[in-house]
Amino acid sequence: TRLRLLLLLGLLLRVAVCSVNTITLCKIGEFKHENLCCLQCSAGTYLRNPCQENHNKSECAPCDSEHFIDHKNRESECFPCSVCRDDQEEVAKCSRTADRVCQCKQGTYCDSENCLERCHTCSSCPDGRVVRKCNATMDTVCDKFDSEPGQSGSQCFCFSKPLGIVVIIAAFIIIIGAVIILILKIICYCKRGENIQLSSTML
Ligand SMILES: *[C@@H]1O[C@H](CO)[C@@H](O)[C@H](O)[C@H]1NC(C)=O
Ligand SMILES: *[C@@H]1O[C@H](CO)[C@@H](O)[C@H](O)[C@H]1NC(C)=O
Repeated sequence: TRLRLLLLLGLLLRVAVCSVNTITLCKIGEFKHENLCCLQCSAGTYLRNPCQENHNKSECAPCDSEHFIDHKNRESECFPCSVCRDDQEEVAKCSRTADRVCQCKQGTYCDSENCLERCHTCSSCPDGRVVRKCNATMDTVCDKFDSEPGQSGSQCFCFSKPLGIVVIIAAFIIIIGAVIILILKIICYCKRGENIQLSSTML
């Protein structure tokens, strides 16, 4: 009977914990305010007052001009829109749901993450050999192979190839020379040995 009592207690505890959980856990798109789950404000609006009843809408107000929020939220105010610098142009307007998009003006580019520096002037290719035109985020790509004669890869290759052959031939001659000297030394040594043998037999 004691065991039953314990089991019952455990069950009661679990029920209590679960009911607490259902109160505190809010659904996706909701947020917790005191003991209530309130619906988040939609993009383009900010939170003025949280809901009064569980799972109800909150009081949301539209963003002021030059302000935006691009996601569901519970922010107390909208974010100010970016302002384009004088070396940039606007490519997307500021709206309640999206920030203004700026990019470098025609003929200039900026390839860093947020372009905190100024836009750079697009490079021009010496012989007009453009592989890829400059745009707002990437500089011009030139055909380097033809625009820099004397420094291209093939020239280096043409120089190194005969040089390599010379080195190989030189190494070959040195090895053969060494082998010949070695053979001569062995022959000399053998002859000297013969001489010693000869002199000993003569004695
Ligand atoms: C709150 O939710 C209840 C039940 O879903 C609904 O009847 C009521 O109209 C809602 N109140 C507001 C202010 O939206
Ligand atoms: C610039 O060109 C690159 C490569 O083609 C591309 O990935 C990038 O999106 C372009 N940028 C703009 C702003 O069009």
